[in-house]
Parts: sequence; C-alpha cells; structure tokens
Amino acid sequence: MKKLLSLLIALAFVACQPVEEISLENRGKIADQAMVVSAHPLASKAGREVMQKGGNAVDAAIATQLALAVVYPGAGNIGGGGFMVSRMANGETATLDYREKAPLAGGRDMYLDANGDVISMSSVRGHLAAGVPGTVAGLEAAHRKYGKLDWASLVQPAIDLANGWELTAREARGLNGNRKVFIEYNTVRPDFFLSEEGSEWAAGDIVSIPELAKTLERIRDNGRDGFYKGETAKLIVAEMERGKGLITLEDLEQYEAVWRTPVTGDYRGYEFISMPPPSSGGIALAQLFNAIEPFDLGEMGFLSTDAVHLMTEAERRAYADRAAHLGDPDFYDVPRNGLTNRNYTQTRMASFSPDRATPSTEIDAGAPAPKESEETTHLSVIDPWGNAVSVTTTLNGGMGSKVFVGGAGFLLNNEMDDFSVKPGIPNMYGLVGGEANAIAPGKRMLSSMTPSIVAKDGKLFMVVGTPGGSTIITSVFQTIVNVIDFDMTMQQAVSAPRFHHQWLPDVLQTEANALDSMVIVNLEAKGHKLRARGTIGRVDAILVLSNGKLEAGADPRGDDTAEGY
Ligand code: GLY
Repeated sequence: MKKLLSLLIALAFVACQPVEEISLENRGKIADQAMVVSAHPLASKAGREVMQKGGNAVDAAIATQLALAVVYPGAGNIGGGGFMVSRMANGETATLDYREKAPLAGGRDMYLDANGDVISMSSVRGHLAAGVPGTVAGLEAAHRKYGKLDWASLVQPAIDLANGWELTAREARGLNGNRKVFIEYNTVRPDFFLSEEGSEWAAGDIVSIPELAKTLERIRDNGRDGFYKGETAKLIVAEMERGKGLITLEDLEQYEAVWRTPVTGDYRGYEFISMPPPSSGGIALAQLFNAIEPFDLGEMGFLSTDAVHLMTEAERRAYADRAAHLGDPDFYDVPRNGLTNRNYTQTRMASFSPDRATPSTEIDAGAPAPKESEETTHLSVIDPWGNAVSVTTTLNGGMGSKVFVGGAGFLLNNEMDDFSVKPGIPNMYGLVGGEANAIAPGKRMLSSMTPSIVAKDGKLFMVVGTPGGSTIITSVFQTIVNVIDFDMTMQQAVSAPRFHHQWLPDVLQTEANALDSMVIVNLEAKGHKLRARGTIGRVDAILVLSNGKLEAGADPRGDDTAEGY
C-alpha cells in the first residue's frame, strides 16, 4: 500500500513537469507479436515493415538504424558508431562493438598545444574530431551472423527516404539551429540542409539528399566495401585532406567490428545483459545494481529522499571507477571481473551513510581485483519469434563534428572527444579520465552507451536503452529500477523524471521539477548540491507483459515512436 501511495504521489509530481510533452499514460503502445521503438516515426515504420515482410529483430534493427541515418541526422548515422546487444529466442546472447577508432595518425597529445593545454573545441568540432566510423561494418557483421532477409532489402528503405522525407517540427528546429555551424565547418556547403536564405525549415517540409542516396546504394550493392573502399572511401579521404583531418584509406580498410563477451548479472532475480568495454555502460550498470540490491527501494518510494540519496551515492561511486579503470580492452587491462564483483561494490558502499552525501573529494576510484580481467540514439526491437535487439548508436554530439563528407551526404562523428584528451580535464559531458582512456592510434574511445536486455526465469522481459552522453547509464539504471522496484508500466518508467550524478562535478542533476520541494530540502540537508537542468535521456524500451503481449515505452521527451503489430 505504501509502495502504491508513493508511486501515486510521484506520478502527481510528474504531471507537474514543465517538459510539456511528458504525459503519463498507464501503458504505452501494445502489440501482439512484434515491436520497434526508435527516435523517429519513419525509422520505426521502416523496422516494423521489415518484420512484416518476414525479417527478424536484427533485420529490423539494421533497417531502423539506416533509416535513422537519413531522417535523424543529429545522431542516426553511417559516419559514427554504436553497440548492439541481442538475445535470440533460444537464449543465445551477443554483444557487437562497432565503436569508432582513433585514426592511425592520432596520438595521446593530438589536442594539446605547445604548452600542453587543450586546444579549445578541437576534439569537438571539425575534421580532427572524427574517429574512424564503425556503423556500416557493424551492421554488416550483425547481418552476416543473424540476418534473415537479404541485405539489399534492409538498406533500400533508407535509400527511399534519402530521396525525400518530411521533417518533423523538432527536426526542422534542429536543422535551423545548426545552419551557422554547417556553413562554418564544411568544405563543401551542405545545401541540402540549408534552408533558403532568410527562411527557416518548418514541419512538413520535404528534404532530400541525393548524394546520401547514392552512398547508400553503394552500401546496398557492396556491403561494407561500399563504405570502406571505392568511391565512398575516396570521398571521406578527400574530405579529410580538404579539412586537415586524419582519417586515411588505411584506417578505413582496417576497420573491423568486434563481437565481445556480454556483461551479465543478476538483480533481484532478473538477469541483465549489457555492453562490455569499450563501453562503460554494462560494468557501471552491474555496479549500480550490486550497490542498491541490499536495500528495499520499493519501500523507500519512487523519488523519495532515501531512494534518490541511495541511488545518487551508488552513481557517484560507479562513475569514479569509470574514470580510472575503463577504456578499450584491446589497449588497456580493464579489471572487468573485479569491478562487477558483488563484494567489491559492497566495500565501495561501506562509506555510504543514509544521513549524509559523501563529497566526491572523499571518493577516489576503488582498487578492484586486477583483471583475471548528449547526442546519441537508441532503438529497441522484439520480433514475432521472441528475438530481441537493443542498439545504441552515436555521432557523439548533436550532428557530430558538424562535418559532412562532401559528395557523400553524411555527417562524421566527433567521437574523439570521448577519449580523455588530457588526464583530469573534463570532456563535453564533464567526464574525466586517465590512462585507461588516453588516445592511441587505432584505439576505441570509452563510451557510456548501455543498450541492455533483461530476462526473468529464462524468458525475455525487457529491451532498453537511451542516448544522453554521460547520463545514459543512470537513465537505463533508473528505467529498469522503475519497473522492478517501483512497479511501473513500461511507458510510466520511460516517462518518469530522472536524476543523475557522475562523481565529478559533484552535482546531483535533476530534470526540472522532478523532485518534491521537501525532498530537495532533505537532500540538501544531507549535503547534496542539486542542479535542475533540461531533460535527461530519450529512453526507448519494450516490456514483455505476463500475457505475452509487448508494451512499448517511447520517450515523450522526443519524437520517439513505437510501431508494432
Ligand atoms: N558518445 C557518447 C558515448 O558513447 O558515451
């Protein structure tokens, strides 16, 4: 009863959210057989149609991601990278890493001037900010292993969209807001995204990018070679030469996606499957669950002082470990088992006090046992056979480096900023790092992307993930906790307000009006420094209901849309 009461109170607060789109329906869209949830209605539609033609969840995820690369240029991409987590109907799990890599000509000090100071924005905008893209290699690798329909039929919907699609109001605003930087950072004017001088894009306007359609045709006809070799590769290298970037033909030819061993663990009897390094997401998620499991969160109540305090203290400690211990496992000995060990997390929580925030200055990274070992987008898919796919993909910042490959019509990432460009100096998300995440030629930069799948008693339970830079891990964590501990529906769990702590800066960020004024007073009395901010994350998730139907959670913070049947 107490649990139900606290949920109702919390939902009343949610209703006061100034984020005007947020409304709490009891349940999201329901489907009998299959569902795809992504950041754009046209991309979700592409994925749904692929499944209706007999494609499986991997096929649908590929088509959805390629469609996002056209209609959602802020984060959908072929010029970036991502991670795919899958759980097939027979229980087989897999995690695919198609994260970008530092160019071979890159190096530890590439963003420092002669005095050793960081050259402002050099890892964030322009040609030098781009890592070697991984998306096309990743999608092809996923298709080779699990695809059911032919590759060409999965690329074709994106080609059709590139020949003309309708802008949403949000997307029109995004293009208008980037007009100036598009002109500033490009060697070839991206006229397809520039509205007529003196006018602005509006909802319903039709945009087309014929050169992107041609690039996608080469990918359709030649698979990964249509991107990493031939005409597209030449156009990328020519763009780099014009803009003094570093990516070469050798970088492109050498790029490979990698199948990695999933991070798995147990939380209150639910099995979670998530992304291992070079993402920090899976390990941090495991640490967060280990830290809070001894406590009765449901009894504390959703967004209660005690629950927010406990989860914040867990987040603070996990992010301190992230900064010190996580990086590309091909270059750095990540103490994976030590970090995710339950006893280790409990020792990290030994300094937790229910009465007082632990200042981040008192928290160093721990010493786990040595190894035995804010723009991105997410899509979740379940197909009629029960296969599930969770994909998070990114250009890093909104519209990545802002650089289009001249003649090829797509944006390049600014993922190099996810490296630690100098120890202790925060990146664009305020994250700090050290040796584990230092730049090296061919190394993958650390990520927070946390595409995840949850199972219960050997059966699929949830598919979940989100964009949001450093807040990704905490948003996925809170969404899962909302369902398991606070009994929310999928849509409620996705719509509910979020908060975030990342160790440094020592600030508890909250969505505006997320917390009751008494909870704020109580948290401040414990020593937390609170800062209200804009929305956190855009979670897209699917829950398998007890009757076998699928419930979508499409985040009202964006254009996110569920398509099912
Ligand atoms: N670029 C955001 C992330 O990978 O964490």
